[in-house]
Amino acid sequence: MPAGCPRSQGLRGSRREATRYNSPMQVLALNGSPRLEESNSQCLLNPLLAGMQEAGAEVTQHYLAQLSINYCTGCFSCWTRTPGRCAAWRDDMDLLLPQVLAADFLVLSFPLYVYTMPARVKAFLERLLPTIEPWIIPHPTRPGVSTHPAAATVSRPSWSCYPAPGWPSPSISAR
Ligand SMILES: Cc1cc2nc3c(=O)[nH]c(=O)nc-3n(C[C@H](O)[C@H](O)[C@H](O)COP(=O)(O)O)c2cc1C
Repeated sequence: MPAGCPRSQGLRGSRREATRYNSPMQVLALNGSPRLEESNSQCLLNPLLAGMQEAGAEVTQHYLAQLSINYCTGCFSCWTRTPGRCAAWRDDMDLLLPQVLAADFLVLSFPLYVYTMPARVKAFLERLLPTIEPWIIPHPTRPGVSTHPAAATVSRPSWSCYPAPGWPSPSISAR
């Protein structure tokens, strides 16, 4: 959290502290592969989630392919007319967004499709727009990079991504 954003810092800090010391870590895992349980993405997830559970975390997992998440329409209503809420769609993001905001840690596992993430994973990321502020600041830890700060009214989890590539050449997979 950047030093210039005390509002966000305060809200995030207090919730994080309460979560860290009083209750188990809440992990939300999303698998972006259409191959569901049989996917390589799930092979990557299974030991990670098992380890997290062993360490006391509470884990919730969804397959994005089983959810209906529409693409962002770019209307910016979630920043203007209906702050924090998508005005364009009533779909499974209504279920997922509160879970994202309640999580301490978000894990995304997905296959590489055409050097990047599958469209359904991208749609999910687009629909996180209401969780960031409309303005841009220097990135707190990456010099020369700009970013949107987390919205003051929400608490976004830390997260990590696990892409499951298929092609053997590092020069193809890592582009
Ligand atoms: C449409 C499509 C595009 C793909 N593009 C890439 C790619 O750019 N790089 C790569 O390494 N693998 C690519 N692959 C291979 C998948 O990433 C690979 O099979 C992956 O392990 C599948 O993971 P999953 O079992 O979790 O679905 C592609 C596969 C498909 C179906």
